[in-house]
Amino acid sequence: MIPIDLKGRKALITGGDSGLGAATAKSLAQAGADIAIAYRDGPQNAEGVAATAKSFGVKASIVRLADVADQGDVTALFAWMDSEFDGIDILVNNAGMDGPRAMCAQSDPAAWRRVLEVDLFGPFYCSREAVARMSKQGRGVIINTTSVHEFIPWAGYSAYTSAKAGLSMFNKTLAQEVAGQGIRVIAVAPGAIKTPINANVWQDPKGLSDLDAKIPMNRVGEPDEIGHVIAFLCSDLAGYMTGLTVAVDGGMLLYPDFRHGG
Ligand code: BGC
Repeated sequence: MIPIDLKGRKALITGGDSGLGAATAKSLAQAGADIAIAYRDGPQNAEGVAATAKSFGVKASIVRLADVADQGDVTALFAWMDSEFDGIDILVNNAGMDGPRAMCAQSDPAAWRRVLEVDLFGPFYCSREAVARMSKQGRGVIINTTSVHEFIPWAGYSAYTSAKAGLSMFNKTLAQEVAGQGIRVIAVAPGAIKTPINANVWQDPKGLSDLDAKIPMNRVGEPDEIGHVIAFLCSDLAGYMTGLTVAVDGGMLLYPDFRHGG
């Protein structure tokens, strides 16, 4: 058996209290990593995720990150990480939002900017703090959660697609910068996964069948199916991977309409 072994690694997950972040916290803990869960809203969910992580015998703590797009809040988060965990080996830039649906001409510039700030500036602020620490120890992994929408245009979500495509290029550029310092930087692009962000679609029978039709595997993914891949990518088993995007999407990127003629 080849184990995914993250024993003793210190992992920080932004938005670790729900959806993909919570599943990732669980997977990393299952692989033996100590877990820091940064949450924005009430602590109850984060406490639940921490309890699950602890059940795997690792350390788990929660911390409030009021706004990942606020550089001061991010600085404070990493100061907390220093005092609570004495370092960081894994950063998962998971916190994100898709923003209100609006066609470009009708969209509110302030709302558009906010999506860019959370989805792109947030990972940038967190990564620069992480790199400052990881480069000193000559080791670290940064995971950037993008989306299939770093590749697939999505009407009504131009801020989101732009932010995710931007994050993809940030991911590659950062990977190039820090590869020589022992730091790997990898983007994970989930497809449609059952989380709160798209619950209004997959909980609605019509929305679900429309969504399934876009997925060659014909089903929405489970959060654990992202968490497990992230655990592998953070481990030394993936030690020669950096700078790419790993899609975990049931084939959504395969242009499913082309199954039938052309
Ligand atoms: C979005 C989901 C959507 C999925 C596939 C994700 O990035 O957050 O709402 O279901 O992409 O379109």
